[in-house]
Amino acid sequence: MVKASAPGKCILFGEHAVVYGQPAVACSINQRMVVELEEEKKFDSWRLDGAILNFSKHPHIDFLKDQLWPENVKPPLKIRIRGTVPAASGLGSSAALSVALVAALQQLRDEDIDAGIAGLLSHQAEAFAQGGRASPIDTATSASGGFVVLSDTVNETLDHIGERSLQYQDEITTWQLHSFIADIPDDTFLVIGNTGVHASTSKQVAKVASLLEKQPERHVEIEAIGSIARRGIEALRAGDMESVGKAMTENHIVLRSLGVSSPELEKLIKAAAPSSLGVKLTGSGGGGCMIALTKNPEQTVGAIEMEGGRAFISPFNSPGVRIETLSSQDSGPQ
Ligand code: MEV
Repeated sequence: MVKASAPGKCILFGEHAVVYGQPAVACSINQRMVVELEEEKKFDSWRLDGAILNFSKHPHIDFLKDQLWPENVKPPLKIRIRGTVPAASGLGSSAALSVALVAALQQLRDEDIDAGIAGLLSHQAEAFAQGGRASPIDTATSASGGFVVLSDTVNETLDHIGERSLQYQDEITTWQLHSFIADIPDDTFLVIGNTGVHASTSKQVAKVASLLEKQPERHVEIEAIGSIARRGIEALRAGDMESVGKAMTENHIVLRSLGVSSPELEKLIKAAAPSSLGVKLTGSGGGGCMIALTKNPEQTVGAIEMEGGRAFISPFNSPGVRIETLSSQDSGPQ
């Protein structure tokens, strides 16, 4: 049996606009998805958590199976998925699952665990599952951990960790991936507030695509998010948390105008704003989570919870994909 895990992520700047090649920054969070794999000779098909795996319900697993196991005959596998990243909440649960699955499959095949390959294949799997449009922000952050910056050109002042391209219809988008050590002062915290409302990333991405198709002039909002993200990245690098917070709130206003916020998100954002340096939705929106940068984390958590949200303080810089050691419980009778 093998076991691998990968962290969820939260986007500080640039969601949606990054799909169109604008810059974005995300950081890994403490919550992880864990995948266990075991060859099971007595089965004749792959099983997920005890039931026959329905690949149409799990398109990214289907895609990764064929990429990592190109041979026609695949040994029957038992897959167990555990984890604490809430599903459909903007925290990258499906990217974390794909990244962890790639690492577990690599280990099962006795291949070296390669975070770059895990990031690359899981990005293709996300694009496949999202109907063709997906940036590599979620998968790259989950694979490498820490802070990840995507941009359209190589930024010489950051650590360049790779390049990803994706063709959608007749357009090819290329992203340069960078990692970077953000100097977050000890008195500044990230609070994540969950509305509890599930939202589909592919629907939210399609909603923005349809708006831009009907009103091409709205591309200025995509570019505005890009310039706010550039400013936010500079402020993060300079450790200027007031400016980071201000840019986050500006980013949220443009996302709201693109139609990807929701009444539930607005309620939590309004509650968190007075005790925070900046507030915004994170991920694809329409529900899911918001984030607050704050020097008063308990007060911010309390304000979000008073409005019915679930909130927690998230540490920065959780490690990326990794192989987990098996405990005696893992190998016990099932
Ligand atoms: C989802 O976490 C982030 C989006 O920008 C989609 C993507 O980048 O593929 C909304």
